[in-house]
Amino acid sequence: MDPVPASPARRIFARVGRPLRGTALPVVLLALAACSPHSPSALDPGGAGASRVAGLWWLMFWISVVVFVEVMAFLTWALVFRRRARSARRGDPTRFVVVAGAVLPAFVLVAVYGVGLRDLAALGHGPDKAAVTVDAIGHKWWWEVRYAGSPGATANEIHIPVGEKVRIRLRTADVLHSFWVPQLMPKTDLIAGELRETWLRADRRGEYRGQCAEYCGLQHAHMAFLVVAQPRADFDAWYARLGAAAPAPQTDDQRRGQEAFLQAACSSCHTVRGTPATGLVGPDLSDVGARWSLGAGALPNDGGHLGGWIANSQTSKPGNAMPPQPVPADRLPDLIAYLRSLR
Ligand code: CUA
Repeated sequence: MDPVPASPARRIFARVGRPLRGTALPVVLLALAACSPHSPSALDPGGAGASRVAGLWWLMFWISVVVFVEVMAFLTWALVFRRRARSARRGDPTRFVVVAGAVLPAFVLVAVYGVGLRDLAALGHGPDKAAVTVDAIGHKWWWEVRYAGSPGATANEIHIPVGEKVRIRLRTADVLHSFWVPQLMPKTDLIAGELRETWLRADRRGEYRGQCAEYCGLQHAHMAFLVVAQPRADFDAWYARLGAAAPAPQTDDQRRGQEAFLQAACSSCHTVRGTPATGLVGPDLSDVGARWSLGAGALPNDGGHLGGWIANSQTSKPGNAMPPQPVPADRLPDLIAYLRSLR
């Protein structure tokens, strides 16, 4: 005797169900990863700009959920009750098709578009009066960071006072880059020959990871930066250090290291404020010992990685502008000691 033929709905569920079970776990894990406190998720906003983006995202998400459930319900109904509906067809379905298929979607799309325009205008409208103005200059592949009113410079790290609006002026020294701090603001592209502007406001203290979001060459992925939102007093202290001369060497090995630094090629590309090193090709190193990473997120910032970076940064960040440095092995520890003391 033949088995009872499965209903069309059951056949569809059987076909779709198995692959779905296989993909459900990775999808759930990805969703959870996006919400982990250490990931730069735009859905974990830390400030006004990203909150707006997250709000728009959730609005669209829940509308999509409602539409999806509705469509699935109609589809199931059509599959299960197809025969009965065909035999008992009554009335003209045109009005339903027009309303549910055209009028309702048009209304939803126009409404979402309107909310999107409102948010776009709010995000584009920078601070009337910024507490702090930062210049972020994109290079292949690192961020030069300067502050209006300060002679100092740093790299790949932007300190801001928490709860205050910060104006960010963006320029590129070479190709297109894009400035993105997912937890604080949407992307702003850096376009050659143009001065672009965006703004940040962090409503809670902490560190927010930023990333170049426009493909810019071999080391695009290693063009990260960190926004450090700190209480006003801490920010003021940091800002004062930024403008001051780098700390002088305190120990014999630091002194020998400074000597090596000034004699080697380092000083022709890098600046250390208060010394004869005034190179402008690479990042200012006056506070390199305090930074969160080496090579714009390529390596952790510690003595071992710093030694490797000096000897040959091409192994960890191929293509970057710094050639291997022929520093004698007996001088390398002094050089590391000196650079680590710059904080
Ligand atoms: Cu700079 Cu991608």
